[in-house]
Amino acid sequence: MDFLQLAKTRCSVRKYLPRKVEREKLLKILEAGRIAPTAANMQPQRLLVVEEDEGLAKLRKAANIYDAPLAIVVCSERQVAWKRPFDGQTTVEIDASIVTTHMMLEAADLGLGTVWVGYFKPDVIAAEFRLPASVEPIAILLAGYAAGEQASPDRHERDRKPLEELVFYESYQA
Ligand SMILES: Cc1cc2nc3c(=O)[nH]c(=O)nc-3n(C[C@H](O)[C@H](O)[C@H](O)COP(=O)(O)O)c2cc1C
Repeated sequence: MDFLQLAKTRCSVRKYLPRKVEREKLLKILEAGRIAPTAANMQPQRLLVVEEDEGLAKLRKAANIYDAPLAIVVCSERQVAWKRPFDGQTTVEIDASIVTTHMMLEAADLGLGTVWVGYFKPDVIAAEFRLPASVEPIAILLAGYAAGEQASPDRHERDRKPLEELVFYESYQA
């Protein structure tokens, strides 16, 4: 499948089969996260893999995890991330988002469903998984084998804005 077709086929999955993700697939997903580009190659990402019942129960206290068998909590070391000298803005969320996207698309390529979860209680995750104070959870990537029918790759025709609304050439003004 070419890249654009893969990107169109990926959709958020919120119903999973009770089937574990094979270790080999998990390692490929993590590898996609490892090689992701980060600002100045600082690699602030820290990936917390949760697949045991006890850990998933802890995660459920912080977010809806849709009974997914695997969760990767994408965290960042804020002090490690590159900081823009002009305004002190760090790339902590940007780096973690690229890492999450890499892993999400690798999972799709492996035939797995995923959903990115941003609606979670960071303080609960920090306490339950004993994150050091310097480590911040940025995203939860849920993954597993999808149950039921998946959204059509054609949905983007309806669900996404047309290019004309999103793209400006040379100047923002028409
Ligand atoms: C940054 C981000 C945060 C998201 N947070 C959630 C979430 O907390 N819960 C959820 O069910 N879906 C979440 N999603 C999934 C989006 O709702 C979904 O990607 C979007 O509606 C487009 O649908 P699609 O992924 O099926 O193409 C999130 C996606 C992104 C990129």
